[in-house]
Amino acid sequence: MEKIAGLSLTPLKNQKALVTGGSSGIGEGCAIALAAAGASVVVNYHSHPEEGERVVETIRSGGGEAMAIHANVDREDEVEAMFAQAIKAFGTIDILINNAGLQQDAAFHEMTLAQWNTVIGVNLTGQFLCARAAAREFLRRGVRSEVSASAGKIICISSVHEVVPWSGHVNYAASKGGIMQLMKSMAQELSPKKIRVNSIAPGAIETHINVAAWATPEAQAKLLELIPYNRVGMPDDIGRAAVWLASDASDYVTGTTLFVDGGMTLYPGFAHGG
Ligand code: BGC
Repeated sequence: MEKIAGLSLTPLKNQKALVTGGSSGIGEGCAIALAAAGASVVVNYHSHPEEGERVVETIRSGGGEAMAIHANVDREDEVEAMFAQAIKAFGTIDILINNAGLQQDAAFHEMTLAQWNTVIGVNLTGQFLCARAAAREFLRRGVRSEVSASAGKIICISSVHEVVPWSGHVNYAASKGGIMQLMKSMAQELSPKKIRVNSIAPGAIETHINVAAWATPEAQAKLLELIPYNRVGMPDDIGRAAVWLASDASDYVTGTTLFVDGGMTLYPGFAHGG
């Protein structure tokens, strides 16, 4: 069955996607979901080739096409080499999931310049470098209407912390606030070229980045106080949103942030007060 109610079951058929940090967590969830929707997927990893290969194997065993490529996203030469290798292997790239990110938490007065630079470097500069490489390829190739209505899609994985301040994590919150304006300004500039740029802002998703916040019953109970929908998110919650934003089903959507957070940004503290 190719379609249900006029919607394609493989809306990303014949499209090529690159997912940074695709070897674990939210990136893995996006890589698997995009492949299930028909895309060929480059799974980028930075330090664990076996993790990249594991995700590639998962995709292949489901009948999909995937390959793993190493790159540190904050290194211009490595990003350029990764895109060159991906385009050589797959012919082009249609979708970038700008996902790679990390946290290095510290009290503000104790935060080192290295902690600041590492987080801004990977989370913000990394998204700039990868988006620029993707945009260059989209502009070179232009629209192929038999594949997609747009020349390319960039999806930035942001966070609720693009709008929610976060004590003890100022480097991370600043990087995500930066992603918001990076995304919107790119969308404004690139939309006339038929390139769509959007963000997904996840709330608390069960991955290793925040394991301390959900792994014990006590921590989880505390976390759920911040989530009106009363469950912690899973990587495929983000993967399904990424498929929609990457597909022509969202063709009129550009420059927006889709919050996928179980209501975390609804000021849950005001449910019984104010
Ligand atoms: C952070 C997680 C955190 C979540 C909600 C994410 O962007 O990486 O550590 O649990 O936001 O606060």
